Amino acid sequence: MKIGHKKLRELYSAFFKSLDHAEVPPSPLVPKDDPTTLFTGSGMQQFVPNLLGVPHPLGVRLFDIQPCVRVQDIEEVGDNRHDTFFEMMGNWSLGDYFKKEQLRNFFTFLTDEKIGLGIDPNRLYVTVFEGNDQAPRDDESIEVWKALFDEVGIKAEVGDRIRMYPASKNWWSRAGEPEKMPAGEPGGPDSEVFYKFDGEHDSAFGDECHQNCDCGLFLEIGNSVFMMYKKVSNGTFEELPKTNVDFGGGLERLLAAAQNDPDIFNTDVFSTIVKAVEKATNHSYDVDENKPALRIITDHIKTAVFMIKHGVTPSNKEQGYVLRRLLRRALVKMSALNEQYSIDSLEPIIYEVLQTYDDIYLDAKKDLKTILPVVMDEVAKFQRTLERGLKELDKLTSVDAKQAFNLYQSYGFPFEITQELLEEKGIHLSQEDYDKEFATHKEKSRSSADLKFKGGLADKSEQTVKYHTATHLIHQALFDVMDDSIRQEGSNITADRLRFDFYSARKPSEEEMKKVETIVNTRVNDALPVAFKIMPKEEAQKLGARSFFKEKYPDQVKVYFIGANENSIKDAYSKEFCGGPHVTNTSDIGTIEIERFKKIGSNMYRIYAK
Ligand code: ALA
Repeated sequence: MKIGHKKLRELYSAFFKSLDHAEVPPSPLVPKDDPTTLFTGSGMQQFVPNLLGVPHPLGVRLFDIQPCVRVQDIEEVGDNRHDTFFEMMGNWSLGDYFKKEQLRNFFTFLTDEKIGLGIDPNRLYVTVFEGNDQAPRDDESIEVWKALFDEVGIKAEVGDRIRMYPASKNWWSRAGEPEKMPAGEPGGPDSEVFYKFDGEHDSAFGDECHQNCDCGLFLEIGNSVFMMYKKVSNGTFEELPKTNVDFGGGLERLLAAAQNDPDIFNTDVFSTIVKAVEKATNHSYDVDENKPALRIITDHIKTAVFMIKHGVTPSNKEQGYVLRRLLRRALVKMSALNEQYSIDSLEPIIYEVLQTYDDIYLDAKKDLKTILPVVMDEVAKFQRTLERGLKELDKLTSVDAKQAFNLYQSYGFPFEITQELLEEKGIHLSQEDYDKEFATHKEKSRSSADLKFKGGLADKSEQTVKYHTATHLIHQALFDVMDDSIRQEGSNITADRLRFDFYSARKPSEEEMKKVETIVNTRVNDALPVAFKIMPKEEAQKLGARSFFKEKYPDQVKVYFIGANENSIKDAYSKEFCGGPHVTNTSDIGTIEIERFKKIGSNMYRIYAK
């Protein structure tokens, strides 16, 4: 049965209404008053309090279709199944039904020919959680799946149709695996359903094909999370007052499965936009080698339209920066395919996006009037930047990976473009070196906005720990560059930046600040070990460990030291009285940039770094 997205929406809605679920309006794509997340990245985001036990006004059975943006996968867009904007079809049980009913309902929705998608159950494969120290193996789900397949005449074996995986695959929380969850966050084991397409396994992805193999034969189409735990502050888990279900399945992927076509870009939430992109670039989607670029342009412009509709405008910060990146990447890909592309051809692409979702989220005619000028304004700005970038590039007679990366950062030049332009000048740039440079910077960029892309939640704990260790390096570097009058007065760390206040007898100059930054980054690159030892206060003072003179310390203190072992603490680069936590190696910190430096009082200074 060939069903389109409108039919799929209708079926989903009718199915859950018939099961007494209340329809909940989706939450805004750009969350209001939530500093931890840039975009809504999953359906459950609005239900976090309810999963933790607060009653929901619409009851204990809910469903919706939630527009989502996940930009952490931006580099993966280009294959047949990744996109940055998608819709998550979700249903929830807040302490009502649990595993048995949930798995049966989803199985029915997928396979039933009348009230569901009519998918052949032979195509379906499932996964369950294998268990760990925090939560047991999900035997119940295994039994439920066996029975469900049995009912349709399929003998489902564990290790084949039903596979067990560790928490990296079968545990869900907004922050990811159990270790990454901050205190207070709900999560739990999950059970995923995969659709198996026809085709041969590609051994480049491993000897054996299985549900989580990335060769493209298997596509994950739905995830039932059994939300039953809450992380508590000492790192362990406690059971939630009620056991909940949080289900999410990508609308685009469900459509692909219903059509038995592994390419989501062939579904009707993409196909007409792809057509407009084909026309604009004069490149056909029938040619395999054109596909990645055409998909990137299609995806990015679609996501950009939704962002602009939700009030985002291109800028260098937060959501605006993401939008800028998406638009620029799309434009660069456009010109790579067709140098002569006309900016007027953007209008039909945008119009097709609006048409696709007309009456659902968008109003084609009205929205075009407000969205188009925002895009055009950014195109004009980018063209100017691009010209400047090209001039810059022209001046260079040789380019190393670092410079290529800077071009990428400052002007939005992707590697292929830089490489291509340089080849014309007879300069060869290796992808490998560039990748290395990229990886080094990735950590750093993750420290800011990028972190918030992840499943919707900033992994605060991880980043703040990195910044915490960075403050120790800054502290010592200030001593190196200035003099012994330096005294740390305080620090404040968020997931986005660190702030460091200090006393200095004289004002540090710009150069001196630059030196501090260089020293810190050298220490980061040196990959120095970070460790602590608990010892008597006097001993710590004798070793020269720095302390806050304002603070009163107990007799036994914890001393963190960087770049030494337990027996050579005296020679460590930095040693401080400190409770922690810290990274275990300075290389985990990533590059640090001192962004601002100012005087905040007499002999008092403040550094902002990220
Ligand atoms: N919240 C779950 C997910 O995003 C369903 O996969």
